[in-house]
Amino acid sequence: MDTKILDTDENSIKEAGKIIAGGGLVAFPTETVYGLGADAFDSDAAAKIYEAKGRPSDNPLIVHISDKSQIDELSAGYSEKAKKLIDAFMPGPFTIILKKSERVPDGVTACMDTVGIRFPENETARRFIAASGVPVAAPSANISGKPSPTTARDVMDDMMGRIDAIIDGGSCSVGVESTIVDASGDTPVVLRPGGITYDEICAVVPDAVIDPHILESLKDGEKPKCPGMKYKHYAPEAEVYVVEGNMADVKKKITELVNENEKAGKICGVLTMSENAYDGAVILQGGMTNKEYAKGLFANLREFDRLKVDIVYAEFEERDGYGLAVKNRLYKSAGQRVIYV
Ligand code: TXA
Ligand code: MG
Repeated sequence: MDTKILDTDENSIKEAGKIIAGGGLVAFPTETVYGLGADAFDSDAAAKIYEAKGRPSDNPLIVHISDKSQIDELSAGYSEKAKKLIDAFMPGPFTIILKKSERVPDGVTACMDTVGIRFPENETARRFIAASGVPVAAPSANISGKPSPTTARDVMDDMMGRIDAIIDGGSCSVGVESTIVDASGDTPVVLRPGGITYDEICAVVPDAVIDPHILESLKDGEKPKCPGMKYKHYAPEAEVYVVEGNMADVKKKITELVNENEKAGKICGVLTMSENAYDGAVILQGGMTNKEYAKGLFANLREFDRLKVDIVYAEFEERDGYGLAVKNRLYKSAGQRVIYV
């Protein structure tokens, strides 16, 4: 299949909308990461997403809207707390899980009785969804297991020849995926930390809790609330290690590790959140705040692969409300290989 690269002008957006209406797949920018979209009311179109990504079929898709009125088509009703969350965070880097309506096909929600709904802030995303004339089901536009794409080039690396079109809308401003809150029960539960912080959620619904699995791997046989939790995630080709603690100790540890592995003939990379220098390693600056670090995280992991780095050491220290979102992605990309110093 030829994959068309589209601009964000009016005609291109119209063309992208037509592809969706015709049952095809289009990757599009959002403020968080690029999504891979299909008509959310068309099971066959949704099935193509699973095939293009190599995504396990029990992992549901979230549905993107361009107008709040579409929530009523997708959900079977919601609580007062859910309404507060919707009013506060939509549009934005936020996904709400609600009881689903009959209209949402099982092929989109992997047979769950709930649906994830997201109203992106990004203007191109909203114009594209509106042009499609239907809600757009979309996971991140990466091959399953790889870091999410935050530029059109990242999408091209994974999806050329597999999908109909890619809308090039530049770099994503948040860089990690939306915060997911399950508001289908009495107590809102944060299933994935992201662009909206836990403190911001609690300011609106004070009894919100964080799912305890956010920073852990699941034990054998344990059933996750969010099916995506159990799969390998965000893993670049390079082997990633997180080195966490104060930056002086982190420097000492990573210096040792780089020296050892360099001698063994490995190319080492370091993702920094300090002014630390490491002789003999490829260094990418991740940013001094957790927010900056989040924005560049997936792009940096993909860049280490382009630079053919074998082992990445990621400096990390929790510094602000985005720390949890970064940690969740970083620990997973490292397959939970975390060295605390
Ligand atoms: O920022 C984002 O959310 C991006 C952009 C494209 O909008 N999308 C995204 O989709 O990250 P995806 O599929 O890569 O991650 C969605 C996660 C998955 O882990 C999935 O298991 C979970 O949301 N999910 C979807 N529907 C769910 C539901 N009804 N109940 C629980 N978890 C759900
Ligand atoms: Mg994803």
